[in-house]
Amino acid sequence: IQWYPGHMNKARNQLEDKLNLLDVIVEVVDARIPVSSRNPLISDLVGSKPHIIILNKSDLADPQEVKKWSEYLASEGKFVISLDAQHKTNMDKLFNLIKEAAREKTKKLEAKGASNPTIRISLVGIPNCGKSTIINRLVGRNVAIVGDRPGVTKGQTWLKTSQNVQILDTPGILWPKFEDQKVGYRLAALGAIKESVFHADDVALFVMDYLRQNYLKNLVEFSRLPEADVVNLPLPELLLEMTKKYGMRDDYDRMSMFLLNQLRKGRLGKINLEKVDA
Ligand code: GTP
Repeated sequence: IQWYPGHMNKARNQLEDKLNLLDVIVEVVDARIPVSSRNPLISDLVGSKPHIIILNKSDLADPQEVKKWSEYLASEGKFVISLDAQHKTNMDKLFNLIKEAAREKTKKLEAKGASNPTIRISLVGIPNCGKSTIINRLVGRNVAIVGDRPGVTKGQTWLKTSQNVQILDTPGILWPKFEDQKVGYRLAALGAIKESVFHADDVALFVMDYLRQNYLKNLVEFSRLPEADVVNLPLPELLLEMTKKYGMRDDYDRMSMFLLNQLRKGRLGKINLEKVDA
């Protein structure tokens, strides 16, 4: 699968240009897929700059897994915070983490006589991970455009906050191609890439397979079928049975989209499509 929208690449180049203006890079990932929603290019770009990882949408993720991922990423030397930017308005913890990450630079400037020097940050991440929502929370006014479709953030602006932190608004970045198809499926399952890249039923089958192995109870409850069927039926048959059960006759495409939409809204429960130990 090749997926190479030009503006994604442009965004990366723009960030490269602005990098020396930034004190801290804040990478937003989806807590349900903390690896697949990370851009491998970011690590090279960030280099030795302080690097915060926000595990966002933690309200939809498996709390145990969020905890494990936080510990794992922290052990790699990153500053980590889990967040529910949708429902949480108090950003003090995040502001404090930004200040902690920028401490070295702040100390240097203060030693030269500066008081409360400005910390410049940029939020980066793949489309739809919640960058605009977090920026809005930090800024406290609705200046950034928030949408529920991938790729709505456009252009770049410095935004002021109530604290000594300024934010560069940067469009999301996704890697040009997925070498691992599973990564693509996970992103598609959670709506991080356009649906048209994959067939919904392929993604739904991928999700069902994963749920059957990792969150069987959730799948059984959603399927409205006996557990034995959910465990034993070949996946395409299981999908067809669920389609019938939901009164959609043999329209398994519709059922597939329904399953994915429910998954994205958390209606299948708090689920991680990527586990630390898996
Ligand atoms: P692009 O502009 O596509 O790059 O997206 P973005 O990363 O700026 O994401 P945006 O802030 O537009 O959020 C995408 C969708 O996710 C919106 O519908 C938000 O309301 C929702 N969202 C953001 N953060 C959270 C969160 O922590 N929890 C939940 N449940 N939804 C969230």
